[in-house]
Amino acid sequence: MSHDSRSDDDDRLTRRHYVAGAGTLATVGIAGCSDSGGDGSDGSDGSDGSDGSDGSDGSDGSDGSDGSDGGDSASELEIIHWWTAGGEQDAYQALLDGFREEHPDVEITDNPAPGGAGSAIDTVVQNRVIDGNPPSTFQIWPGQALTPYTDEGLLEDIGDSVWDEEMRGAYLDGVIDLAQPAGDLVAVPINIHRLNNLFFNVSVLDDADVDATDIDDPQGLLGVLETLDAETDVTPLVHQTQSPWSSLQLWESIFIGQQGVDDYQTVIGGDVSSLEDEVRSALDLLASYLEYIPEDAGSISWDQGNDQLIEGNAAFLHQGDWAAGQYSSADGFEFGSDWDMVPFPGTTGVYQSVIDSFVFPTNNPSPEATEQFLNYAGSVDAQERFNPIKGSIPPRTDVPMDEFGDFLSRQFEDFQNSNTQPPAIAHGTAVAPAIQSALEETFANFNENRDVDAAYQGIVDAF
Ligand code: GAL
Repeated sequence: MSHDSRSDDDDRLTRRHYVAGAGTLATVGIAGCSDSGGDGSDGSDGSDGSDGSDGSDGSDGSDGSDGSDGGDSASELEIIHWWTAGGEQDAYQALLDGFREEHPDVEITDNPAPGGAGSAIDTVVQNRVIDGNPPSTFQIWPGQALTPYTDEGLLEDIGDSVWDEEMRGAYLDGVIDLAQPAGDLVAVPINIHRLNNLFFNVSVLDDADVDATDIDDPQGLLGVLETLDAETDVTPLVHQTQSPWSSLQLWESIFIGQQGVDDYQTVIGGDVSSLEDEVRSALDLLASYLEYIPEDAGSISWDQGNDQLIEGNAAFLHQGDWAAGQYSSADGFEFGSDWDMVPFPGTTGVYQSVIDSFVFPTNNPSPEATEQFLNYAGSVDAQERFNPIKGSIPPRTDVPMDEFGDFLSRQFEDFQNSNTQPPAIAHGTAVAPAIQSALEETFANFNENRDVDAAYQGIVDAF
């Protein structure tokens, strides 16, 4: 049931809202969020005894501690996230730098749980939250990933405290919807990644006389991988199988490339069996692709794989555009001349979105600092600092795009021109975590045995 409303939400994440710009969206309908209480004051008050003004450099641009009770003691803000890989660390640091400029008195405790696509974060966060010892905030996908927390009332409604008029007016409607899966606004989205990208090393393709823009559909890509394998020494498709999410997301892109987004919505709505042949066909093709991945695929992370592409030892990478964040942090590896990207074959016009957000767990150890951080994460300044480095575009419509560079400017244009922005399964927004983990188990097995029958059954059972 919620799947249906979710797809409606996603359809609303359209270019109109970007084009409309800020201001005109000030009255966007998100009724029903302002009636419940929960202003974040149910935990300890965050005064953790640390008294020093921690070496702030005197930039006192703090804009007033709204809601503060007058205490001026430094507070600690613990953040759990997984941004430690290729370039993501830099984006995260840029975000913290901006926050520190506005709130030099807040001491940040950085607590990473490394692992692509949050593969290690769930256990850490869930145990902490269930034990009543949550961090101040943590990284999580908006949409369905939030529901185990909202079901148990473990996230504060920040619809009044953080989501003021200004912020509501500036965000894309569809993104706001994802931040309130159960009615209350509980998350602050900070970015929009695109998932359906096919990145490539330009000179590797040139040397092999391959033109990526000529590949029309997922089957066509297989032909190119075969050619690269036969005629070059490079790895045709640099893909990791250490953790199952990359194969799951590749299957999503193949499926959308072959079938289109309506069928994809049917699948994430849980009706897998009416599309049995189509689901199997995407699995078949995925199995064929897996013939052309690195020997060490089972022991590398996504960014280690991407290093192989940067070094010129691999041709293609299917990955979210966080991969582009890694290219910008690599020395002398330039967009256009050294790397480029086409939408995954068959998915032009689709901007499959992957969004990250931060939340306010109840029983919060630092309510005031958490609120300040969430306010900041929702600001123009934060999104302007974070996204160009991260390889994503902002969910606010009023962020100046001048510093986003050629690649992200093109992605932004693609987003504005896209027909649809379906959510990703492998990145939590599309399906509830229980379904996602069952699918991950299925694709972990598939990485090993490439058994289409078993994988098909696994997908049916997962839903
Ligand atoms: C996604 C996340 C991205 C990026 C990626 C790779 O789930 O939304 O921001 O971190 O995983 O780890």
